[in-house]
Amino acid sequence: MQTHLVGRDMITTQEWTKDELDTVFNVALDLKRKRALGEPHAYLRDRVLMMLFFFSSTRTRASFEAGMAQLGGHAEFIDSTTTQIKHGDTGKEIGEILGRYGDGIAIRQCDWAVGNQYIRGVAEHSRSPVLNMQCDWYHPFQALADMLTLFEKLGDVRGKTLNVSYAYASSYEKPMSAPQSLILLASRYGMNVRLTRPPEFKLMPEIVAQTEENARKSHGSFEILEDFDAGFEDADAVYAKAWGAMLTTTDAAESARIGAKYTDWITDERRMSLTRNGEGLYMHPLPADRNIEVTDGVIDGPNSVVYDEAENRLHVQKAVMALTMR
Ligand code: CP
Repeated sequence: MQTHLVGRDMITTQEWTKDELDTVFNVALDLKRKRALGEPHAYLRDRVLMMLFFFSSTRTRASFEAGMAQLGGHAEFIDSTTTQIKHGDTGKEIGEILGRYGDGIAIRQCDWAVGNQYIRGVAEHSRSPVLNMQCDWYHPFQALADMLTLFEKLGDVRGKTLNVSYAYASSYEKPMSAPQSLILLASRYGMNVRLTRPPEFKLMPEIVAQTEENARKSHGSFEILEDFDAGFEDADAVYAKAWGAMLTTTDAAESARIGAKYTDWITDERRMSLTRNGEGLYMHPLPADRNIEVTDGVIDGPNSVVYDEAENRLHVQKAVMALTMR
């Protein structure tokens, strides 16, 4: 249990030690228990989280706001389009100023080749901790919630197989931040991490290299497959979602043309029957493109844990806020 986390940024879990991450999970479970029992846990009374969104959100906004209220503080929602950012406020100014008004700054900025750099720039100039609510590279709170769900459902995750897979979606070019954060985190915990994706949907080479190193250190494993069905075989959990072909092309129309080659990459009942004993967990961070990325039968089926993942966003975020913003 680590007790020195006040003031720390959470931009990627990769910058937190295993002991520190264990502390987050430990505190998250304690806060989940307290909420279930109705026990007060106002550790952040009078504290303010400044939440700056460059992109829309359902779960992230709602869970951070609810979490701050339950911790006795306040979350201020700021839509970037209503600010002076487009008239010149820089990342430095956002960090300096919002960091003085509040006790933490949370940011969602997912623009490819911009988001992570922007959040890092704000963090450099903020006296308060900066929390990454999703950028182009990372979605750390989603990965923490996914990992907590895996602990709850699988128990000891060491040696268990997690298939993080591309799936087709027609809606828009989704960030690669959720799969990148999850392979980074699951590989810290000794899982057999499997990344399944078409050749045009590679993840960032530095993230893949860090995942390989994490797996080596944790005595887990990491493999990359290009056959969608093979990814399901004997998996204990399947996390199949769409992301964009940003490393192949930055042209959205070309990306859509490439994606259209993989419309059969949909998670369905036959594929889920290939998982361990036909009972592998189905995971997705949401929102999902129903009957394009995944059938209704799977996402609403008995092995789907999507709502537990969404709930756990609340608990892990409260844990990180309580640990860093006191
Ligand atoms: N999973 C997730 O981040 O959901 P939102 O985009 O709705 O916040």
